[in-house]
Amino acid sequence: MARILAGTLLLLVSLESIQTLRICSFNVRSFGEAKRENSKAMDIIVKIINRCDIMLLMEIKDSRNIICPTLMKMLNGKSRRGRRDYNYVVSSRLGRNAYKEQYAFLYRESAVSVKKSYHYHDTQKGDEDVFSREPFVVWFYSPQTAITDFVIIPLHTTPETSVREINELFDVYMDVKRRWKPENFVFMGDFNAGCSYVPKKSWKQIRLRMDPKFVWLISDNMDTTVKGSTNCAYDRIVIQGQQINSSIIPNSANIFDFQKAYKITEEEALEISDHFPVEFTLRSGGSPTNLVRSVAPKKRGRKKSQRS
Ligand SMILES: *[C@@H]1O[C@H](CO)[C@@H](O)[C@H](O)[C@H]1NC(C)=O
Repeated sequence: MARILAGTLLLLVSLESIQTLRICSFNVRSFGEAKRENSKAMDIIVKIINRCDIMLLMEIKDSRNIICPTLMKMLNGKSRRGRRDYNYVVSSRLGRNAYKEQYAFLYRESAVSVKKSYHYHDTQKGDEDVFSREPFVVWFYSPQTAITDFVIIPLHTTPETSVREINELFDVYMDVKRRWKPENFVFMGDFNAGCSYVPKKSWKQIRLRMDPKFVWLISDNMDTTVKGSTNCAYDRIVIQGQQINSSIIPNSANIFDFQKAYKITEEEALEISDHFPVEFTLRSGGSPTNLVRSVAPKKRGRKKSQRS
């Protein structure tokens, strides 16, 4: 009896150490001072981030650089004894004129770390300055998942030029490939890839869509908008790489409807954003077969020592 109990405990401990990785993307509309001072909105934003191991935030409008430090305080204040849980990397303030936005990645330090990052140089001959906010590319190291590293390429397009910007992601892909030679890619963000901004006939101009090695996890019929009156798949996740493709937990690619999850009204939800986050989850490195193998020899070993 005691032995069975010990075995069960061992199994439970092993199961607990299996770590999946949830990766999310969220356009927090016009995320600046006013929203920072809205404590109700901030509490929900922190809850939304806390569900994710990596969270890409977009539309940060923060000339004083206080949004990310405030989020860190709120996120890490929740963890035991103020132990640091989340860390972040943030892009430069991006934009062609006085209007600027930033991309930020908030990530759980116990799960992943940043290997490298850079701002894509949007200076290709004949194709200069396509992006309103050039991707801030980040290479993550993720020792506990089935794939140990992947690159995330974020994008927040300007609606009117979204077809051209999404198409240009192919060039970013080639640039990252040349630079770092990684195997696994994630493209995500508010691509404005739906409704009138990307009509059906425009998809054939988008290489990321026409080339079958890119897998679109959020499909055209999904609705990433908060307003009940709109139905558009603006926010997307696209992956490339055989390993990452086979490491995704089936049906984990989804929209997170925080209005429903936290039982708030549409009006309250719109105070946070007009977008819902999108997300997917990667499998852990410890497959169920490995688990059984790692538990079984210990049992045999114990029996043996009892006999002798
Ligand atoms: C990605 O995985 C899905 C489901 O496992 C599979 O049907 C599809 O062919 C894969 N695509 C690529 C490009 O590897």
